[in-house]
Amino acid sequence: MHTDSLPRLAARTDRFVASAIRDLLQLAERPEVLSLAGGLPDGSMFPVDRLAVAAARATATTGRYGSAALQYGPTEGLEAFREWVAAGSLVHAALGPVDEYIVTTGSQQGLDLIARCLVDAGDTVVVEDPVYLGARQVFVAAGAQLVGVPVDVDGLDVDRLASRLHGGLRPRLVYTVPHFQNPTGATLHPRRRIELAALARRFGFVVVEDDPYVAIDFEGRRHDPIGALAPDHTVTLSSASKVLAPGLRVGWLRAPAWLHRTLVLAKQSVDLHTSGLDQLVALDVLRDDTFMAGHLATLRAVYAAKGHALHAALDGLFATRAPTGGMFLWGTATDDTSAMFEPAISAGVAYVPGRAFGVEIERSHQLRLSFATLTTDELEVAAARLRAAFLGAN
Ligand SMILES: Cc1ncc(COP(=O)(O)O)c(C=O)c1O
Repeated sequence: MHTDSLPRLAARTDRFVASAIRDLLQLAERPEVLSLAGGLPDGSMFPVDRLAVAAARATATTGRYGSAALQYGPTEGLEAFREWVAAGSLVHAALGPVDEYIVTTGSQQGLDLIARCLVDAGDTVVVEDPVYLGARQVFVAAGAQLVGVPVDVDGLDVDRLASRLHGGLRPRLVYTVPHFQNPTGATLHPRRRIELAALARRFGFVVVEDDPYVAIDFEGRRHDPIGALAPDHTVTLSSASKVLAPGLRVGWLRAPAWLHRTLVLAKQSVDLHTSGLDQLVALDVLRDDTFMAGHLATLRAVYAAKGHALHAALDGLFATRAPTGGMFLWGTATDDTSAMFEPAISAGVAYVPGRAFGVEIERSHQLRLSFATLTTDELEVAAARLRAAFLGAN
């Protein structure tokens, strides 16, 4: 009997794992479910009209080789974009000269490039515990051994990291989301930033500073980037996704000179360059300071109102901290939040159980609640449904 033999996949694809929450998100998409589970920004806040103006301008601009929006461009990104990032803006701090920057296809691509260039299979990578799932996916695909260092109210517990380093831990990378972390909302304390920078220099690892939420601060509180404290040991990433729209797929990173060229080569083999059209559209809006000042003020006010509404509506049900920025509340429940997921869906509300984000700590009684997408009224209904599901179970 003849059987076709199918070609086999490369061995490394064994490490390509689906996002732990994809199945959950499918349940959350049922029309009757109010979802606090997604990590999406509020689509009603996308500056659609301003982006349309930018798109028209981007395609109208034609130079000697045609439109920069439509022609092949440099792998490191359009010069004008890199000049804007290097100068610093309302969205992010300046960190170094233009030639240390790369425009990336979202900051997610930046994470992937870093893993390609700095992580061999079997290398240790320290991540926050709980961790941003997209980062875990990248580092696992690279074959890294993940070590989780807990996050508390002041972000990554750098003292805990220090004691593990003194105990012999030798990571290649330490990954952190230093403002309004996904999933906990915590911000890394300035003292810890200084200590982390010192540890990176002493133990020779790279800090991956993934900072997409920095501009969504509710209280005007931003701290110095770690990239300013240990520039030779830090890659800083940010993105237009949370401040404009994620569909643009425009992010950027700043890397020290010794690493920059290698990252550019890695990017070249992945996608040649980030879409010129996307870069020009994003840039037109991002460097319009008058527009951005108003837009960011509205975005912060809207997200702050939603975050505080959800926090207040959950009073007495879960322990949560009032949000200071970003898109997420991190709650602690008296029940196991994985076991409560189905009852919550039946009650018409979804969240992400804490287990999905745990690295070394199980997080069985914790949960992530996104306040970005629903309206304030919907958030209150969602909180009432959570209350019915959780209290009804007892
Ligand atoms: C911490 C963090 N890093 C990176 C990303 C990816 O963002 P981008 O759209 O810029 O690829 C996200 C998206 O949710 C995120 O939360």
